Amino acid sequence: MRLLGIETSCDETAAAVVDGSIAPDGQPEGQILSNIVLSQKDHEAFGGVVPEIAARAHVMAIDSVIMAAMKEADCDFSDLDALAVSSGPGLIGGLIVGLMAAKTIALAHDLPFLGVNHLEGHALTARLSDQLPYPYLLLLVSGGHSQILLVSGLGQYHRLGSTIDDALGEAFDKTAKLLGLGYPGGPAVERAALQGDPERFRFPMPLRGKMPPNFSFSGLKTAVRQQAEALVQEGSLSDQDVADICASFQKTVAAIIEDRLIRAFDLAANRSDVLAALDGKSLPLVVAGGVAANQVLRDHLGRVADRLDTQIIAPPLNLCGDNGAMIAWAGLERFATGESHDFALAPRARWPLDMNAQTMIGHGKAGAKV
Ligand code: KG4
Ligand code: ZN
Repeated sequence: MRLLGIETSCDETAAAVVDGSIAPDGQPEGQILSNIVLSQKDHEAFGGVVPEIAARAHVMAIDSVIMAAMKEADCDFSDLDALAVSSGPGLIGGLIVGLMAAKTIALAHDLPFLGVNHLEGHALTARLSDQLPYPYLLLLVSGGHSQILLVSGLGQYHRLGSTIDDALGEAFDKTAKLLGLGYPGGPAVERAALQGDPERFRFPMPLRGKMPPNFSFSGLKTAVRQQAEALVQEGSLSDQDVADICASFQKTVAAIIEDRLIRAFDLAANRSDVLAALDGKSLPLVVAGGVAANQVLRDHLGRVADRLDTQIIAPPLNLCGDNGAMIAWAGLERFATGESHDFALAPRARWPLDMNAQTMIGHGKAGAKV
């Protein structure tokens, strides 16, 4: 099957063409023919994504991004089997733009189309990049979401933990903003931290040792602010101070995630259905979402996996942030089961992966906004 995937749920206008199949034994196999991502620069001056600006920027870019993806894949709409588009969760204006583009192409070229959950795109990326079979334990950390999920099959998501306040990407973005490092904050904090001393500051680790393995990042952000203000009061906030704060912040984040993941792994790996599906193998750990691009976190997760005697799958950097390939792939998995949608399909600003989990802030909500 060959699908075009379209992604416009936050501040990336993206399109990709993916070829792939699911073997009768469930084994996934996929190939990315093109993957075009246009990150909107229009939000930098505001220190966060402005929904109205994002929607307008998607309108301006969507046609050319789709055509660039088709050209790079060297294919025509008639070569496609279906279209997949992020239809939620996310900023509603952007979702409408992507969905209308997908419906228009579907109508004009008589193609089936599918509305895909953006979070499912992140959740299944490791199946595209690493041919990973189900089940696995997923750490999903992005600008709008921080969750630990047991992924048992397509559409089978059991949320073991979630943030009770800020998402991790949001904590990176807010830390960068208060330190004057610009937007998006994650890469800026990571860059600054390279010159920093991770041992200089001790920041709090809320919920450490507690069950269920939820996250809380808003206290960490406040501690960073208080530390920066204290340094300013003592004299000035030097570049070295900023680097040390960033390095200490990342070290604390890694320690929090280690503690939460080990507890979640205990919960998931001992379930009878998981034990039966794994048949003696260990439950793989997967990381996904924009924050998964962080190298300090990736290295740390490698050590956590060693400790748990399992493997860590971290998709290549270009598949961590929002992209069309993950949407095409999630669409392909659903299309393979016979699913498609009609033109009445509406976008959804909120759309949790685990519909049975208790609602919490930071769970299935729209991306980080100003
Ligand atoms: O998945 P994503 O592209 O969009 C959402 O669905 O939210 O994630 C964006 C988030 C932003 O908060 C950004 O600062 C963060 O991912 N991010 C990073 C890094 N690259 C992006 N956080 C930490 N380190 C990075 N290298
Ligand atoms: Zn995302």
